Amino acid sequence: MDRDDLKRQVQEATDIIQLIGEQVTLRPKGKEFACLCPFHEDRNPSMFVSPQKQIYKCFVCGAGGDVFSFVMNYHKLSFPEAMKVLAERAGIELPDTRSPQDTAKASLRQKLADANKLACTFFQRQYQHQQVGAKARAYVASREINEQMLQAFQIGYAPDSWDALAGYLAKRNLPMEDYVECGLVSPRKTGNGMFDRMRHRLIFPICDALGRPIAFGGRILPDGTLGDKNEAKYLNSPETPLFNKSQTLYGLHLAKQAIIQTRTAVIVEGYMDVVACHQHGVCNVVAALGTALTKEHAHALRHFAEKVVLLFDADEAGQKAADRAVEIFIGGTLDVTIAVLPDGSKDPDELLKLPNGREIWDKAIKDSRDALDYQFDRMKSQFTENDTVAGRQRLTEEYLRKLALQGLEKMSPIRRGLVYERIANLVHLDEKSIGEMVSRLAKTNRPTPPKPQQPAPTPQHPGEAEYLDVMDGDPAMMDPDMPHASDLAPGSFEMADTGAQNQPNVQPQPALTGSAPKVRSRALKLAERQLLGCLLHRPDLFGITLDDGHAFEEAIIPGDMTTDAANALYHVVYERIAAGDTLRLSSLLMELMEQGRQDLANLLTQADADIEKLNMTEPEQLEAVFRKAAEKLLEMRQIDEKLQTRDMALNADSAELQEHLLRQIQEQHRANPSPIRIAGLPRGKS
Ligand code: UTP
Ligand code: MN
Repeated sequence: MDRDDLKRQVQEATDIIQLIGEQVTLRPKGKEFACLCPFHEDRNPSMFVSPQKQIYKCFVCGAGGDVFSFVMNYHKLSFPEAMKVLAERAGIELPDTRSPQDTAKASLRQKLADANKLACTFFQRQYQHQQVGAKARAYVASREINEQMLQAFQIGYAPDSWDALAGYLAKRNLPMEDYVECGLVSPRKTGNGMFDRMRHRLIFPICDALGRPIAFGGRILPDGTLGDKNEAKYLNSPETPLFNKSQTLYGLHLAKQAIIQTRTAVIVEGYMDVVACHQHGVCNVVAALGTALTKEHAHALRHFAEKVVLLFDADEAGQKAADRAVEIFIGGTLDVTIAVLPDGSKDPDELLKLPNGREIWDKAIKDSRDALDYQFDRMKSQFTENDTVAGRQRLTEEYLRKLALQGLEKMSPIRRGLVYERIANLVHLDEKSIGEMVSRLAKTNRPTPPKPQQPAPTPQHPGEAEYLDVMDGDPAMMDPDMPHASDLAPGSFEMADTGAQNQPNVQPQPALTGSAPKVRSRALKLAERQLLGCLLHRPDLFGITLDDGHAFEEAIIPGDMTTDAANALYHVVYERIAAGDTLRLSSLLMELMEQGRQDLANLLTQADADIEKLNMTEPEQLEAVFRKAAEKLLEMRQIDEKLQTRDMALNADSAELQEHLLRQIQEQHRANPSPIRIAGLPRGKS
């Protein structure tokens, strides 16, 4: 059989849907299947897999091909390696054409893979051996690992001897250097020959995502006859061209399906914990190999999971891991949460053996908290301890600067919107201001702005004409709402109401004066409703490119709208469209009502009415309205950014001023409780 025949045979025996479906979640779409493309940072499914043609194609990054190219690209294998994987998978035997010379030429990776495979089998046999494996089996029994797990995890035993493996290899004339490189044997310091690195240890083979052993972890067993008692509890293989510790997750090949199904991966600390979890039916569990979660781990997991839960035995470890996890969270497309087992329940292995262990486990996972929460908590306590406005402002800025440096701006719009929302809730600012602060901090990236020598000039809005420019003339659309904080104040901590103008000895703040913001607010709100209404009628508008060259979906994200309600509603709509779902007014309304969001339902109804009453007959008209509304919103944002820059120049100086103002407002508020809202003050403090 020649190579082409073999290729055809392997190809015919492999279903591309099944093959790719083992790695990423496929969703039926017409005659094809769609998924997040694993070859680029994909936010919306842009890869299509065709069962008829047996090919895949990504319309964004251009990746595409047949089963062979998928395996080659996904697992980073050469063609012969991919052929081997697929043939083995299909149960087709490959003719062994390798001469001794060929063997010598085989890639180092392949040689190391062969060495690991052989050693894995060797250790398993020793485990099964009547006498040799007796102590290991007794230990496994004491740890209550069952037969099924033993097989699945290919657990083995390295005998209580200096040269069990070395002798075996020598006798068969196997290429010793490969085993040295894999860290399984070492040359003796005196004399010739090799000695075993793993002795009297229970062996946990560490496999790649395809289940092939690439390294080993060996747990010391009690009652050994060799060596000293101070040996490390676990001995792990060194890194090799085959084994990269920070990329590898123990148990991934066995957890993959469950991770895909639950979209969640739980990362525990130990080998034993992974085995115990699987044995107790919790199969979406893997372990990092004695390291913190890395970007590479996240990358390996993002093909399967949307969320990673880091599980720790103790709160202290969780706190330590949080910073790192936030970085991963920001840098990637994964949610990272942290779960901590209750005090005294030890590790998952011990926990799950308790009668109510599973219950405690489930609760810990359910109660897992966003990695950002952990960071927030620290910030929050500093924040509340600090009772000057200037101090709080500085803290918030420091925190946002940290996030900006960690790359918050690079996050996908939806995720970024969620982060802004959280921060906004914490510091009682609106999301838009948070977003603007982060943008600014990312750009400036300098410590504290220097104090200007001159007193703050009397503020004057540098763009009042622009307000009029974008003002909408329809008086029916004016609403008498109280102005929202973001209508008023570009900048950090702003007081979201009037009342300060009359204070003696202080200059009025720009945000507190003038009627322009109110007008602007109405025009904006109409524009926002129109956007929502248009999307309801034509979700495809979501994908258009605006005149300035930006994609709509990236230019305007949830969090960019003026009110909480509009943001919340846009968030719902945004996610639906991004997920390719249909938008039906009636079903959306019903859902919102069911969730008790009467406010959003009202807004949606109004948005729909705003569009209906324009009486448009042509689809192009709708698009024109949509474009105009989007432009309006963006224009506003530009103005805000301009103001923001100027405000920052005044900022250092006005911090004291603000504090002074704030105190006066507080006092006034105490004397005369009126609807003054003070953004930036924690609730219950006034
Ligand atoms: P633990 O000490 O918690 O061990 O280390 P464990 O997994 O619970 O094992 P048992 O239950 O005591 O048998 C957690 C993980 O840290 C790494 C291993 O990956 C281990 O599974 N570790 C620990 C090492 O690499 N070397 C060590 O010496 C100890
Ligand atoms: Mn343990």
